[in-house]
Amino acid sequence: MWIAQISDPHVRPRGTLYHDTVDSNAMLAAAIAQINALAPPPDVVLLTGDIVDEGEASEYAAAREILSAVRAPLRVIPGNHDNRAAFRAAFQDHAYLPADGPVNYVDQGCGPVRIVALDVTVPGMHHGEVDDACLSWLDGMLGSDPDRPTLIMMHQPPVACGVPYLDKYWCRGGDRLAAVVARYPAIERIVCGHVHRHMHVRFAGTLLCTAPSTATAIALRPYPAAEPASFLEPPGFLLHHWKADAGLLTHGIPVGSFPGPFPFA
Ligand SMILES: [Fe+2]
Repeated sequence: MWIAQISDPHVRPRGTLYHDTVDSNAMLAAAIAQINALAPPPDVVLLTGDIVDEGEASEYAAAREILSAVRAPLRVIPGNHDNRAAFRAAFQDHAYLPADGPVNYVDQGCGPVRIVALDVTVPGMHHGEVDDACLSWLDGMLGSDPDRPTLIMMHQPPVACGVPYLDKYWCRGGDRLAAVVARYPAIERIVCGHVHRHMHVRFAGTLLCTAPSTATAIALRPYPAAEPASFLEPPGFLLHHWKADAGLLTHGIPVGSFPGPFPFA
């Protein structure tokens, strides 16, 4: 099973640049084109939040137009830049999305790996939080089939990375989430977005990783008093490959066209 993950495209209204700097819409389209050209093709594409930049209907209209190019089944969750109501309205044809409340759901039908979407966003806020309802939903759902290989996706990571302006808006309640996750060794991976960087860390007995943005990268400044900044580093996406005898292996793939192929491995 091949699971592609794109994150934080921050789509803007047609003809508008992201932070007056980059064409995030074209950058998302480029990532999708590269994913569509993968061989073998992915069984599912995950989009881990911040689909748009300001939660506006005109941005979602542009996002839906760009995302219509995705050939594989698409599974989306909101991020802190999304507006839950506008997100719901834009993706109302996505039947797997719950009709109200947090956008938590489980998808068991894309392959052997169960996809669990955990909505840790707090409407109107930039940080995330796992609350009691979220934890009890997660625990009950995992417990219903505890041995099924599982990937959990959530927007804000529940771990600090040492960059002050990222950690200010992390997902609170990570210790309580860890207590649930640690009970289910079949959780192969927790995948996040939000930080616009590719990171890996051990979390509650599993591996947690964050995806780069398809647009700009947030500066890696792991020191106190760091000023927030972004760079136009090579954008990218993640490709998670499940094999029953090997588990889940994650590739980080830059978006772009590069010299090659050359006749050596
Ligand atoms: Fe973002």
